[in-house]
Amino acid sequence: MFNYVVSELNRFNLAYLHIVEPRIQGNVTVEDDGNGLGARHFRSIYQGTIITAGGYTRESGEAVLEQGDADLVAYGRLFIANPDLPKRFALNAPLNEYDRSTFYGGDHRGYTDYPFLDELKVLTTV
Ligand SMILES: Cc1cc2nc3c(=O)[nH]c(=O)nc-3n(C[C@H](O)[C@H](O)[C@H](O)COP(=O)(O)O)c2cc1C
Repeated sequence: MFNYVVSELNRFNLAYLHIVEPRIQGNVTVEDDGNGLGARHFRSIYQGTIITAGGYTRESGEAVLEQGDADLVAYGRLFIANPDLPKRFALNAPLNEYDRSTFYGGDHRGYTDYPFLDELKVLTTV
């Protein structure tokens, strides 16, 4: 069914198709053999821009782009915990770890209190 639906989406000149890899269930990473209904599978079916998400690290995100399986990589949990995630990736800087217990919380904790690189006084020379 998904092959058919994705194939039909080609007719609509969409901005992108955003795929969540099967290694993700909700906000939890699960076992996956890499051969499921993800970006690699749909690349040959969908002709437009593909965004893939789901458990990517800096390295695996770069790898999926280099392999050509997707055009863009979306980051969820890492971005929640690292508001300056692109800068950290560019500098290969250490990441804040996310706190799952605050993902669905009702105040600033887990949303606006993760430190930026500069606050950590990390050496940022490239
Ligand atoms: C707080 C939070 C809430 C989420 N809620 C949903 C949701 O309602 N529906 C859904 O399909 N995915 C949901 N997700 C999954 C994300 O869309 C995304 O697929 C997932 O976080 C994988 O990307 P990541 O490994 O970069 O975090 C949620 C993720 C997080 C962290």
